[in-house]
Amino acid sequence: MTTSHHYDVLVVGSGAAGLSLALQLPASYQCAVLSKSQIASGSTFWAQGGMAAVLHDRDSLDAHVEDTLNAGAGLCHEDAVRFTVSKARGIVDWLVEQGVRFDYRVDMPDDEFREFHLTMEGGHTHRRILHAADQTGRAISEVLMQRSTDASNITLLPDFCVVDLIHDGHKCNGAYVLETKTNQVHTFTARAVVLATGGASKAYMYTSNPDGASGDGIATAWRAGCRVANMEFNQFHPTCLYHPEAKSFLITEALRGEGAKLLLPNGEPFMERFDARGELASRDIVARAIDHEMKRLGLDCVYLDISHRPADFVKHHFPTVYQRCLGFGIDITTERIPVVPAAHYTCGGVVVDQFGASDLPGLYVVGETACTGLHGANRMASNSLLECFVYAHSAAEHIAEMNHSRPQDQPASWDDSRVRDSDENVIITHQWQALRRLMWDYVGIVRSDRRLEFAKNAITLMREEIDGYYGRFQITRPLLELRNLAQVAALTVECALTRRESRGLHFNQDHPQRNDLAVNSILSPEKWPSNMLDTGFKQHLPPYS
Ligand code: FUM
Repeated sequence: MTTSHHYDVLVVGSGAAGLSLALQLPASYQCAVLSKSQIASGSTFWAQGGMAAVLHDRDSLDAHVEDTLNAGAGLCHEDAVRFTVSKARGIVDWLVEQGVRFDYRVDMPDDEFREFHLTMEGGHTHRRILHAADQTGRAISEVLMQRSTDASNITLLPDFCVVDLIHDGHKCNGAYVLETKTNQVHTFTARAVVLATGGASKAYMYTSNPDGASGDGIATAWRAGCRVANMEFNQFHPTCLYHPEAKSFLITEALRGEGAKLLLPNGEPFMERFDARGELASRDIVARAIDHEMKRLGLDCVYLDISHRPADFVKHHFPTVYQRCLGFGIDITTERIPVVPAAHYTCGGVVVDQFGASDLPGLYVVGETACTGLHGANRMASNSLLECFVYAHSAAEHIAEMNHSRPQDQPASWDDSRVRDSDENVIITHQWQALRRLMWDYVGIVRSDRRLEFAKNAITLMREEIDGYYGRFQITRPLLELRNLAQVAALTVECALTRRESRGLHFNQDHPQRNDLAVNSILSPEKWPSNMLDTGFKQHLPPYS
């Protein structure tokens, strides 16, 4: 039996974007915030670096805009960049008001005139990264979670995983959602729905992201008819810890901002051979340089060294990295850190406007799930938290202004009468691994036409098997995530194949030059060949009426 719920606003995802949007809604709006597992289990919690904002007299909004445009390699929407950058100071004030404690400079008196400590990251020409040591995401998440728990109009629902949106082609009216603890599907109707589910880096074998980054929002919006853009621009973070027992542990770029050097095993620095900015070149360049050196010399990893800085400085600024590495027997105050690149951020996503509004009225998409035009072909470090807050706030205002109507009809109940419990879970575990391995090997940091074509064919076959499985068996969280990952992988390969040039995060060795006429890659479900459309949806569910 389906349990039905109604809210004014349904927010799927409980990271920085989802929670700040909920907190910005008028208090008269009843809002549910869903999370696939614990409320603080998404990428925000793990963000080490910080949030970019122009706060220093010597810095300027124009400089932040220019740095972002340069990193984006000609594909940013300048309006989106200016809009985002200009809102940063207001967002900082809002976060401080909520209770977020960013680091202050320790060399200034502790009074109301003291300034934030601003650090440096790749692509930025000024110190403008606001942070809380190397636990910025955690500092933000904990405060937003507390605020949301205290708000009487917000209901936090952990262990709820979105299945598909409920819509009639003209308006989004809610979502079918799996309660993962009971495996029961609930029907949520709402006047507006917000997807804030993060990115899709879990599509790759090696990633800095937590387990939930399976592209749920992107795949769900696509299935509901929304356009998706720039999926070929998956960002690989240059430095994740290389250790057999370390899963997904990022070594923040702020280490390089504070002077850490990248070294080959023989101690030779190499970044200057690739870019005059050395370790602070933008991420695409640093990740590709590491990948190049690893392949050239047959290495398992390269090394990052900050041991030349005073030990107290390192421990004060990077307590998380210090402790975590020490746990693996590496003292970063005296030793080099073994590092490798790993999938980190999805620059593409669901196409939205300045209010986070998607193609489907009533459906908003914010944070990493969205493609706002800010990142272009390559996101600059620490612009993403800023984007989360800026667009969450403008979406909340838009939702209040639009005053979307309540769905008139009760949607069809979830129908699982034709499916049974799986006796073939091996298909899910196998396909999870096969897909992620395929994406890493064939759709990774350096691509070729041949490998992309191979990946396309392989993903088509995988999706047939996954859709068949979806049609026969009860849904579970791993199945939903696999279905979404496979969808997102197909979109990524399609975007990569249509971009016959190299730019930003997309490097194809068969088309190594940049083509200045190339534009953003926008995929529309209407134009997608029918054999690539997800058909699983209908096998469980009668059409919405
Ligand atoms: O390196 C980092 O701390 C990551 C920052 C970011 O992805 O913005």
